[in-house]
Amino acid sequence: MLNRTVLAIAALAIGVTAAAAQDVIAERKALMKQQSAQTAQGAKFMKGEEPFDLAKAKNIFTVLASTSEKIPALFPATSKDGDTKALPAIWEKMDDFKAIAAKLASDAKAAQASVTDEASFKVAFPNVTKSCGGCHQPYRKPAS
Ligand code: HEC
Repeated sequence: MLNRTVLAIAALAIGVTAAAAQDVIAERKALMKQQSAQTAQGAKFMKGEEPFDLAKAKNIFTVLASTSEKIPALFPATSKDGDTKALPAIWEKMDDFKAIAAKLASDAKAAQASVTDEASFKVAFPNVTKSCGGCHQPYRKPAS
């Protein structure tokens, strides 16, 4: 009787962990989408597809600074498996993974402060967004 209860509780706990892992995977994908919405806006300014707007440009860096700070917490060791393109290398080299996220955050913060016009934006934006590919290349499965 007691054993059964213990087993039932253990099974429940495993179920909860699996659900939590899927939640955190969904959460990090949503965060990444927020980041790509901002880089898409930045790309329009880069290509001249939209007239430069300083407030929008600053907002790109504000969002990237705050979202990138949240990246490490969204990759707990319990979230390796599931509907995810995250590669196991993340958990083997967590310090490096975190360092790339931290670099994105600090570059975005610096750009937020230093960008004052279109010319300075066009220098800062490609530099800040290097970290996107810099992390995806080693740590994300390529789209199949
Ligand atoms: C520190 C590492 C890291 C950085 C920095 C990073 N990403 Fe990601 N990104 C990932 C990983 C890992 C995944 C795969 C997540 C998954 O499938 O669970 C991902 C997934 C994505 C996705 C796909 C989301 C989905 O719905 O599946 C987009 C879009 C994306 N990133 C955009 C960006 C942009 C834009 C930047 C830069 C502003 C950026 N990322 C910076 C690691 C990073």
